[in-house]
Amino acid sequence: MSAEVQQTEECLDLYRKSLKIIETDHDGAQFDMDRPHAFVVLGASGDLAMKKIYPTLWWLFRDGLLPVDTTFYGFARSAMDIIALRGLCHNNMKVKDSESSVYEAFWKRNFYIKGKYDDCHDFERLDAEIVAREKIIANRIFYLALPPSVYENVTVNIKNACLSKKGWTRVIIEKPFGRDLASSQVLSDHIARLFTEKQVYRIDHYLGKEMVQNLMTLRFGNRIFSPTWNRDNIASIQISFKEPFGTQGRGGYFDNFGIIRDIMQNHLLQILTLVAMEKPASCHPDDIRNEKVKVLRCIKPLQMEDVVLGQYVGNPDGEGEAKLGYLDDPTVPNNSNTPTYALGVLHIKNERWDGVPFILKCGKALNERKAEVRIQYKDVAGDIFEGQPKRNELVIKVQPGEALYVKLMVKTPGMTFDMEETELDLTYGSRYSNIKLPDAYERLILDVFCGSQMHFVRADELREAWRIFTPILHKIEKENIAPIKYMFGSRGPKEADDKVFSNNFQYSGSYKWKSSSL
Ligand code: NDP
Ligand code: BG6
Repeated sequence: MSAEVQQTEECLDLYRKSLKIIETDHDGAQFDMDRPHAFVVLGASGDLAMKKIYPTLWWLFRDGLLPVDTTFYGFARSAMDIIALRGLCHNNMKVKDSESSVYEAFWKRNFYIKGKYDDCHDFERLDAEIVAREKIIANRIFYLALPPSVYENVTVNIKNACLSKKGWTRVIIEKPFGRDLASSQVLSDHIARLFTEKQVYRIDHYLGKEMVQNLMTLRFGNRIFSPTWNRDNIASIQISFKEPFGTQGRGGYFDNFGIIRDIMQNHLLQILTLVAMEKPASCHPDDIRNEKVKVLRCIKPLQMEDVVLGQYVGNPDGEGEAKLGYLDDPTVPNNSNTPTYALGVLHIKNERWDGVPFILKCGKALNERKAEVRIQYKDVAGDIFEGQPKRNELVIKVQPGEALYVKLMVKTPGMTFDMEETELDLTYGSRYSNIKLPDAYERLILDVFCGSQMHFVRADELREAWRIFTPILHKIEKENIAPIKYMFGSRGPKEADDKVFSNNFQYSGSYKWKSSSL
């Protein structure tokens, strides 16, 4: 057995073992390695399918992580064949020369069906294609890589024409799950009439990221953090997402949603729930999701006085895209007030967190790419060092470059009794340099094959998330509230820093990191 094959076998084995831990007595969980599976990508000609779904399916196939007899079906309105689809996906697939025969084998298992999303006959044809290749008991997964406007028709057609006859059927749904509480509820009710909650996988790809999944282990697998994880010790928590590029021609889509719906209501709020929830009774997906819902229920709807909104303008000294502001995007209306930056402070009214601000920050066209959680501890009580100690901070760096570090004070080394800021640093790139971390979509799609819903959003979680953000979204839109302009490539509006400081988060600018290990 080659070293690579052995590593894949070991990896798969470990994955199954870990599933056993998290899935004990979870009836939906099973990995039918020997059964035929059909994986259907609805919206196969779209951006998401080409950039994320097909590459992910290829990597899982290449690494031998999928059931052996898995067949892939693309379904979309465009007239094309599998060769054309392959051509569209190719640049995103990252195929090494040594993998060419496996790559050929992957595409041999792919088929494409042209059809309309609202035409039940086209779904009957899709079903016939699948039936023609599957043996007796086969499982089916449908990935809706589609705009939400067609979800209703597509799910009805799947239900009526394409359910697996003797195996299970699972449906993966991409965000946005509605635009507000009411529209999301309409969609949820519709889906609930067709499928059970166990069949529905609402994907939030941040739940597939290494450091987001790590939050559970970090909090509940260590003694060191839990006694201080509360209002007695923690001053303030920041959860941030930054991107250094603008809408890049996606302005038309983005303008309809804005940054609160695009990032804050889902990715950042999901991280918040994992940081703030109580310890679940077990690692069973429903125990975890029960705790997530419980903590969400303790959050009042976001208030305008706790919000800063921004929209980027071009930087005359910038290069390329940076010269252009959001309103320069031809797909964005000239007078759009859609925020591309938002800061929102949430307050969790429970015994653990009362009084601790949870600051969510997200923006496009900023100075860097970053997603992180920053837990800032309170000042040392009864200080004997004349105000020198800076606050401790635990930073969980989600990307880029997964890391976990604690900023803390030490005596300056040597013949002195001064003190300085330093860190306890776990940089994944050096500590785990021999491990290739899987992409978020790889973990999540594999979870769907395995029937693990731990990292997927349940209907009641979604409802709570919309309850928190809907009033402010309606207010912003109804009153057409103008966002503050910020320069492409900056850190965002200055008013956001003011809001951070008034929410008990301190920044001195004195900390310097020396990256000696990389
Ligand atoms: P800093 O004290 O430098 O910064 C903390 C955060 O404060 C920044 O990320 C920034 O976030 C915000 N900030 C920056 N300027 C201002 C300002 N003028 N006013 C208010 N807020 C400001 O510490 P870091 O923890 O960020 O560490 C510094 C660098 O070292 C980072 O790049 C970090 O990734 C790196 N580092 C990496 C480690 C690793 O990979 N293992 C370990 C330790 C450090 P924002 O712009 O989002 O508001
Ligand atoms: C998506 C948003 O959900 O997440 C995009 O719609 C954003 O606007 C993307 O760019 C960021 O994902 P990642 O994994 O690159 O941080």
